[in-house]
Amino acid sequence: MSPKSYGLILRQCRLVSGDVVDIAIDGKKIAAISEQIKERGEEEILIGGRLVCPPFVDSHIHLDSALTAGEPRWNESGTLFEGIKIWGERKQSLSLKDVKKRALETLKLQAMQGVLFVRSHADVSEDSLTALQALLDVREEVKDWITLQVVAFPQDGIYGKPENKKLLKEAVKMGADVVGGIPHYEFTREDGVKSIHKIFELAEEYNKLIDVHCDEIDDEQSRFLEVVAACALRSGMGEKVTASHTTAFGSYNDAYAYKLMGLLERSRINFIANPLINITLQGRMDSYPKRRGVTRVKELWRGGLNVSLGHDCVQDPWYSLGTGNMLDVAYMALHVCQMTGLAEIDACFDMVTVNGAKTLQLNDYGIAVGNSASLIILDAVSRFDAIRRRAPVCYVFSQGKLLAQRSISETKWHL
Ligand code: FE2
Repeated sequence: MSPKSYGLILRQCRLVSGDVVDIAIDGKKIAAISEQIKERGEEEILIGGRLVCPPFVDSHIHLDSALTAGEPRWNESGTLFEGIKIWGERKQSLSLKDVKKRALETLKLQAMQGVLFVRSHADVSEDSLTALQALLDVREEVKDWITLQVVAFPQDGIYGKPENKKLLKEAVKMGADVVGGIPHYEFTREDGVKSIHKIFELAEEYNKLIDVHCDEIDDEQSRFLEVVAACALRSGMGEKVTASHTTAFGSYNDAYAYKLMGLLERSRINFIANPLINITLQGRMDSYPKRRGVTRVKELWRGGLNVSLGHDCVQDPWYSLGTGNMLDVAYMALHVCQMTGLAEIDACFDMVTVNGAKTLQLNDYGIAVGNSASLIILDAVSRFDAIRRRAPVCYVFSQGKLLAQRSISETKWHL
């Protein structure tokens, strides 16, 4: 009898725990993990002690607006509100072809850098629902190599125009995975609260997740997070609910923040911070001292809440930079949130991997026997090393298949 063999064996993989193991892949699954796999692989790759981890998760991006920076004009003030205005002009010329082309290009850019799970918002404030339809089409087109979740996001508010409420419901019925919202952008505080109740009503009726753009403003009076958390607690939806941005939380007074934290811990909702974007968008009305404009990531993490990080924008009206690299996001987070302790740096890496997977409610994620063989190999030896050097991703495996490979270039010193 011939000895058992595997389709592929990755030799000498360093896990985030520091253990060095061999990983066998058969078909689409991880078939074995052990210190030394005795069997042979039809193909074998020597990883040589490099870091092997599950793929990066971008839990918050806007693929419909990606790669439109400068169209029709540049955001000169750098504010969220000028960004919304410019996008309002650009979205008049959206077509399915236009959105799909840019979304696919961005996803490919991300996948080559190890991102294989993405949650994207789709603006559903236009009668045609073009952005949503395009992203639903893309979700289907890419499903063999990247998992895309689509959020029905009412960019102009649910009550900003009479037809918006109907459009949001239509978007959910068309197949969006998640119901979104933007309460701080509604005309009044009452409309904002009403919008959150509407979001929960839709999500419960159609069994969807929730991800709200919540309090993305420097106004310390913007307190929709407490409404989202209270609704999550009362409805029992808890971990199915996410509050994105929550930048006003960085401006709340400490007495209120303390009281709020108790409610948040009970609600078990997820948080997504987008430090690349909010460090640039927020604080624009401040003179000095100028606020950092990012939510209380460190305190939420210490409180045991699930925090992940998103890229948010890649070359669009809100942020003209960005390459889709999640290590850039983690790097910015640890600076802005002052998470420079060793455990804190590791936590920032987790925020672009396992914590993101939890936010997206992914099962079958992680390096474990029986799980889907989706994993990446970084030219690094630890999470700290990966973030410090924004280490390149050498191999990307998606569902057992090699999706991307990169050779590491070397600089020679000639003196
Ligand atoms: Fe966003």
